[in-house]
Amino acid sequence: MDNLDTLVAQATADFAAAVEPAKLEEAKARYLGKEGALTVLLKGLGKLPPEEKKSAGAAINIAKQAVEAALAARREALRLAQLEAQLAAEALDVTLPGRGQTRGALHPVTRSLERIEQLFRSIGFEVADGPEIEGDWHNFTALNTPEKHPARSMHDTFYLLDAQGRVQEDVLLRTHTSPVQIRYMQAHVAQYGHLDAMPEIRVIAPGRVYRVDSDATHSPMFHQVEGLWVGENVSFADLKGVIGDFLRRFFESDDLKVRFRPSFFPFTEPSAEIDVAFMSGPLEGRWLEIAGCGMVHPNVLRFGGIDPEKYTGFAFGMGPDRLTMLRYGINDLRLFFEGDLRFLSQFR
Ligand code: DAH
Repeated sequence: MDNLDTLVAQATADFAAAVEPAKLEEAKARYLGKEGALTVLLKGLGKLPPEEKKSAGAAINIAKQAVEAALAARREALRLAQLEAQLAAEALDVTLPGRGQTRGALHPVTRSLERIEQLFRSIGFEVADGPEIEGDWHNFTALNTPEKHPARSMHDTFYLLDAQGRVQEDVLLRTHTSPVQIRYMQAHVAQYGHLDAMPEIRVIAPGRVYRVDSDATHSPMFHQVEGLWVGENVSFADLKGVIGDFLRRFFESDDLKVRFRPSFFPFTEPSAEIDVAFMSGPLEGRWLEIAGCGMVHPNVLRFGGIDPEKYTGFAFGMGPDRLTMLRYGINDLRLFFEGDLRFLSQFR
């Protein structure tokens, strides 16, 4: 019987020494397996004299139950330990700040364009667009530009090549949004021309334009917003009122001076350039050119299908990139188009 107690103590110690399930199963085999110590003892019962069999069998069974209980306890202890270790390894600190997704944002020029559209819509302008690949006729001829005008040179204008790599003289990247004036007038006349009283044309056309040009204030691709108002008795005074109001609302400042400086464009007569000066802030006192404008030339109205004897109009073409530079105090236009997140993320 002492032997059995020692056996149970030995088994319990062996189980306790097993620090992982595989070792524990090996230890179990030494006591309860086919060749295990207890199994061998039970098999040996048959050789005992009958009077000893009963008590010896009972004692061995009690020892076996004790070993099985120790095994079960150790299995459970190992299972719990493994669970603890796993929980510790996979611990989450729910108090850490979240990583989140960085928030995207509209490009500053897009913001200006949306703002410009919203302001002009509020005074009854439509928003139109036109193709960036234009024909010479829409881009120049219909805008009253003479045959030999320097803007038509390959020095200033991107012409497209044909399949053989030859320059196509009448297919180009539009150099301004002004061709949309022609397209819009023609479409308007097609829609209303048969009516006696044609509804007024009031439209802006924002978009990308292209020129062979690149420095701190010029990019080969930039934006323009064309404006056109055609009706009976539309005057230069209307132009000044619309532009002045727009600029004060765009810059949210009544402290803004606007000046119209005489200029020349083939498609307007008279023509002017528009400058603004800020009366406070970092740009105080400086005049900055932000647009060209004028009364639509009679030839241009005619090319658009509109009778210049009956209707007059004003037009303007402004630079939303410039407006954006002024609004945010940015001094290099190229920053807008390089896609550098260190710059862009400041506008989140
Ligand atoms: N198209 C001119 C340019 O790109 C800008 C311009 C000037 C547009 C006068 C107009 C205008 O509509 O009336 O330089």
